[in-house]
Amino acid sequence: MSHKSPDIADTFGRPLKSLRLSVTDRCNLRCKYCMPEEEYAWLPRDNVLTFEEMAAVTGHFTDLGVDKVRLTGGEPLLRRDLPQLVRLLFQNRRITDLALTTNGILLGDQAQALYDAGVHRVTVSLDTLRPDRFRALTRRDEHVRVLEGIQTVMRVGFTGLKLDTVAIRGFNDDELADLIEFGKRVRAEVRFIEYMDVGGATDWSMNQVLSREAILDTLSRRYGQIEPVSEVSSAPAQRFLLPDGTSFGIIPSTTTPFCATCDRSRVTADGMWYLCLYAKDGTDLRGPLRAGASPDSIRALIRSVWQGRMDRGAEDRKALEKAGVREERLIEVKKLRDDPHLEMHARGG
Ligand code: GTP
Ligand code: 5AD
Ligand code: SF4
Repeated sequence: MSHKSPDIADTFGRPLKSLRLSVTDRCNLRCKYCMPEEEYAWLPRDNVLTFEEMAAVTGHFTDLGVDKVRLTGGEPLLRRDLPQLVRLLFQNRRITDLALTTNGILLGDQAQALYDAGVHRVTVSLDTLRPDRFRALTRRDEHVRVLEGIQTVMRVGFTGLKLDTVAIRGFNDDELADLIEFGKRVRAEVRFIEYMDVGGATDWSMNQVLSREAILDTLSRRYGQIEPVSEVSSAPAQRFLLPDGTSFGIIPSTTTPFCATCDRSRVTADGMWYLCLYAKDGTDLRGPLRAGASPDSIRALIRSVWQGRMDRGAEDRKALEKAGVREERLIEVKKLRDDPHLEMHARGG
């Protein structure tokens, strides 16, 4: 294995540890909170990195300290032959945690092949247990396939299945306990995510955000005393225990940002590197890669960009809200049309 260099830290001392690799910007759902339009400007196909290029880019990151890699989309399972990428990444012994975030539609077909290739941890988005609501939220009739996909994951033997629910007031706030009960049946930890006003979430408004406090309130009325789990972690989720020992998580990105410990960055399918979910500019890695730049020079680029990182996107949004000027969207619709990288679905959540 190549080259060893020490871990690097950004301007706030945050290490570069977790890489989210978006393998495609396409999605087979049109969730209101992420891709509310039917048509989008897609990344040009020729620019989309090959699996070999993705594995090479990932290798530069793992040389610099990254040890967690999560495959994201769009919907990652739309990328043809995804297990082939997984096999390439599985050979990288610096990756200690290789995971996948998916909407679950294609898991029934692909879970076994992905497991065999080396992904052993999956997170599935599941916002509702009701087919009619699923259809209204996503504009597609795929609820049954998602539920089947989750069952397949359980059968195949994945450990650490998580179900991610974006909690939205007036949409699924009456289903929180039902989702936890469903999670128990499929041996999954449910995590409730506060609705965020990221790029692409053009229907977002503060009154649809179901806060961590509101979520805890609802759940304690149903279950009784809820205890926080005390743990030190850079993960976005805070974990809690119900009286019967069932754990669940809350990702309070909107009301209680966790930028202070953020060790995550994102590479889009066409090789742009973003230091924050909210970042408006990224670093082009495809250019140097395809121009034949040396591994040393690509690592030097990554190192210097990370060392200059100052991003605290969610905290900045929160500060705007406190100042009473958060009303406007993160990014205007026109700008989103001009640059698809600004969309949440291009950078993988
Ligand atoms: P593990 O803890 O390793 O399982 O992964 P994770 O929680 O980082 O991954 P996952 O894709 O399941 O993340 C869940 C959701 O949390 C994402 O879809 C985002 O909505 C949100 N999230 C993840 N990372 C960040 C982040 O860096 N900033 C903010 N604001 N939200 C994030
Ligand atoms: N707010 C919160 N989470 C979001 N995601 C996408 N858009 C948003 C948003 N506006 C996250 C969800 C989804 C994952 C793919 O991305 O967790 O499950
Ligand atoms: Fe990290 Fe940006 Fe998310 Fe903050 S908002 S936790 S800096 S990705």
